[in-house]
Amino acid sequence: MRRKFIAGNWKMNKTAEEGAALARELVKALAGGGKADVAVCPPFTALAAVGAELKGSAIALGAQNMHWEKSGAFTGEVSAGMLVSAGCKYVILGHSERRGLFGETDATVNRKLAAALAAGLAPIVCVGEVLAEREAGRTLEVVAGQVRNSLANLDARDMLKVTLAYEPVWAIGTGRNATPEQAQEVHAAIRGLLAELFGKASAEAVRIQYGGSVNAANAKSILSMPDVDGALVGGASLKAADFAAIVGSS
Ligand code: 13P
Repeated sequence: MRRKFIAGNWKMNKTAEEGAALARELVKALAGGGKADVAVCPPFTALAAVGAELKGSAIALGAQNMHWEKSGAFTGEVSAGMLVSAGCKYVILGHSERRGLFGETDATVNRKLAAALAAGLAPIVCVGEVLAEREAGRTLEVVAGQVRNSLANLDARDMLKVTLAYEPVWAIGTGRNATPEQAQEVHAAIRGLLAELFGKASAEAVRIQYGGSVNAANAKSILSMPDVDGALVGGASLKAADFAAIVGSS
């Protein structure tokens, strides 16, 4: 039985002070513990302040991006080791906003994945089709290509440390979530491909989150699907009550 995993992607929101305040609220709201693993991924500048608030709680810290090199002349970048030292357990890789706005490709995601695993981080690898691809009936083909190429050269043991996030780009920030059935179809296809690539046991153990306009009202129906193992939540993760309600739906 896979344990559900709910992660909040704060994107470019919250200063250190604002992030610490939200983290304090979340620690209070989720104090009872629960059945799901929970993480929040603030911007780099808020990691330390948020991490300090999360200490001793069951909420883990994650980052939204990283570079594949350990150090060097890469102005504006942050390494996996730096994230570990900032208290991160998780790192989101290949989010569609990174792919679409900042030129990330499956190849760069793959390099980042190897570096993240080498540093001991648990990566959350994002995949998902754009609207034109869905409308052309190419969703499964596009997502399979992203999964194959982003996870290239990974062995089955390392795969167990990875979470996948299926985030249809047309559902992100639009208020138009995938239906539970649409999510399930893609999640099941991803799991089938993982079985082919890494064996059935790994495929059954890997968690696949859904992301894209998840909120307190729709979380339960999406999370009830058999191959949906959690959620990667954007906008609704910025309000403690909403995020706590989503965690409570899992
Ligand atoms: P929204 O929940 O705001 O649609 O964002 C989803 C997302 O991109 C999470 O990574």
